[in-house]
Amino acid sequence: MSVKAQRYDEWIRSSFIEINSELEALYFAQEDRADTSAGGEALRQLLHDEGRAHIIGLHKEGNTDEGFEAAFSLLGNVGLYMGACRRHGITEPSRERSSPLVEASGLALHIGASLGVAPRFATSHLSTHNSASNGVYRSFTKLKDEFLFLDFNTRGIFAYKRAADALVRTVPLGITHPVTADLLLAAHQTLEDVARYNEQLFEQLDPARFFYSVRPYYKPYRVGKSEYRGANAGDFAGINEIDLLLGLCRAEDPSYSQLLVDKFLYMMPEDQARLRDSMRRKSLMDQILEGLKSPGSCGRYFEENARLFLKVCEAHGRTAAQHHDQLVERFIEKPSSALDEKHLTHITASGPPLEVLMAALQKLRDLRTAAPRDDIQSRYKDIAAIRSALGEAAS
Ligand code: HEM
Repeated sequence: MSVKAQRYDEWIRSSFIEINSELEALYFAQEDRADTSAGGEALRQLLHDEGRAHIIGLHKEGNTDEGFEAAFSLLGNVGLYMGACRRHGITEPSRERSSPLVEASGLALHIGASLGVAPRFATSHLSTHNSASNGVYRSFTKLKDEFLFLDFNTRGIFAYKRAADALVRTVPLGITHPVTADLLLAAHQTLEDVARYNEQLFEQLDPARFFYSVRPYYKPYRVGKSEYRGANAGDFAGINEIDLLLGLCRAEDPSYSQLLVDKFLYMMPEDQARLRDSMRRKSLMDQILEGLKSPGSCGRYFEENARLFLKVCEAHGRTAAQHHDQLVERFIEKPSSALDEKHLTHITASGPPLEVLMAALQKLRDLRTAAPRDDIQSRYKDIAAIRSALGEAAS
């Protein structure tokens, strides 16, 4: 990391957090907690000016080729600044045709294009690729609820990644291999971990604090001329690798692959490669359905593996249902209904109106739970066929 990048990182980890935290305290004490235009003008100006002073130097310095990690980390730090400016209304994409943060845009575009990622901060900057210094990692504020949210996002993402790692190792073995059972068991166990983390987050996070003081940092913002959707905890390949390798979602389903295409640049390059790879694999579900055509020739491990496969699908579906029915409902949908109409635009990270987003998330939940829906490409009939062939009751 260059000296300038190091100093900027120190600023992000100190003054930046202090200013944001002071502003959050101010907004949260107001009668209208969603209003960012009443008090705090001097603090907003300070945030803008101090950040810009660092970024001007870094923009002039250009890409000093300090390696991927340093460049990716700097992109994250520029992104946190741009995200905070958006949160406090210093920038507002619908008001502008191009970001007023000219130097920050130039730097972010330069780094993003050279690394092959979106030129904005992504979830990995705050979760899986967020180094801690003396036990404290990068954040926007020092609010307990922000750390809670990030801790559990990071745990959930790593657990999904472990499940994906186990499933991807079944690819060269196949569904009739004796050791495939070990991998399915490992995937099942880690998906149970996701469920446990979701439950803990659900119980511990304060809905009002999350909604008014944490979530707004994840809004879309412009970099140069283009507006980039907000980051969300789903911007990693693991969850989609699980969808595809199990076969609950299919790459040839246009609405699902549209989602994948849209999220590629929000993932780390290594995740992009993994996702591409799993898009061309034959799923476990399709292998089982094929095996069921001549079960006698599938060997002695096929049936046990197929039963374990069903358990993994159930566990995956359970985490998806928790995400939608508990986390999204409690922390986004419910508080949104109490929000004044004028603040309702851009409350979601991706930008579409809430009901559009909710329908899209519901669709994902129903694919992952193999729900009985014929208007989407749910595999419920295939799951039922597997269950019946194994003599299992419908779940
Ligand atoms: C307070 C907790 C959470 C809330 C309110 C929440 C809400 C949301 C919302 C609203 C979206 C849609 C993106 C958008 O806003 O445009 C989303 C996407 C996503 N979130 Fe969360 N989320 C939470 C925690 C988590 C956690 C802990 C995970 C685990 C890794 C997770 C995984 C995902 C995934 C994978 C997506 C992408 C869509 C999908 O494939 O299902 N979320 N989340």
